[in-house]
Amino acid sequence: MSRTLWIDTEGTLRTIDQTLLPFERREVALRTPGECELAIREMLVRGAPLIGAVGAYGLALALREDASDAALWRAFERLAAARPTAVNLRWALERVRDRVAGAAPAQRAALAWDEAGRICDDDVACNAVIGEHGARLLRALPRPGADVLNLLTHCNAGRLATIDHGTALAPIYRLHADGVRVHVWVDETRPRNQGAAITAWELAERGVPHTVIADNAGGLLMMQGRVDAVIVGCDRVAANGDVANKVGTYLKALAARDNGVPFYVACPVSTIDPLTPDGAAIPIEERAAREVTHLAGALDDGSRACVRVVPEGSPVANPAFDVTPARLVTALLTEHGACDASAAGVRAVLEARPS
Ligand code: MRU
Repeated sequence: MSRTLWIDTEGTLRTIDQTLLPFERREVALRTPGECELAIREMLVRGAPLIGAVGAYGLALALREDASDAALWRAFERLAAARPTAVNLRWALERVRDRVAGAAPAQRAALAWDEAGRICDDDVACNAVIGEHGARLLRALPRPGADVLNLLTHCNAGRLATIDHGTALAPIYRLHADGVRVHVWVDETRPRNQGAAITAWELAERGVPHTVIADNAGGLLMMQGRVDAVIVGCDRVAANGDVANKVGTYLKALAARDNGVPFYVACPVSTIDPLTPDGAAIPIEERAAREVTHLAGALDDGSRACVRVVPEGSPVANPAFDVTPARLVTALLTEHGACDASAAGVRAVLEARPS
């Protein structure tokens, strides 16, 4: 089973609790809209496309309980608010809402469930194509004298952030499967360590050579010529090409620009939000201080522990995302190919969408 979200033989929606990775792979059932909302909010599921898909199923489950217009709107707003930055969540909820609008209440839950399944299938297909486009682009990068392609990624935009394949990791998996020698520098990605915990786990699972680095090591590696390209995922692309991704992405983009390293942002077109004019208008999720003050991990005997790393009483801020200005992005990499991170590039890729 490589999909991160699936329906079991009893018809129950199931996923993996990502808060337990890399120490335990535990499957969980999502049986109610409340369980879907909590899984998104508490990050049992995470990554823009995956939370969109779970939100879509959450709306379908809400319609099983009450298929009225009022209940549809209530569930829509609750699920949409669970994580505000990734536009894929609202996009997927709108897709389900539009599918059931106009249908008789008795048919709504089944239609919504079906649409959520299509969202998942489309995500897998999109990401496979992103992998093809991205692999072609990365393969063509100049690598004077080196036979290994060294890529750096931040956070987790792999299969665990999507239904399958990932976005930023899709080209890496493609290259690896094609026999290209690739090596990934994996930013640990404080505060929740999605790089160290999740990206490293899934790269290891697929046998892709990688090295985990502290978040602040990337600049030096780029300066030393040890990074051929940076490739990251994204939670929202604004109409002018600015991109929001996990906090710390912007600093990698600055270092990449200063060192002449290409900086690619991989995302499906559903991550582009033409209604958000620029990065300043993207809502940035502020998460709990505890994510910064405490670190979760395993002790040497294998038991799990959560330890405080900040003095009691020190004030803490925890913005979960940052904005990378379009001018620092070499290209956006979508299922329709690479395009400029600019108003014109974004418009062109949106127009390439089948209607
Ligand atoms: O807070 P998270 O773990 O949901 O953040 C995930 C990211 O920032 C990913 O890079 C992004 O969602 C792209 S997922 C393909």
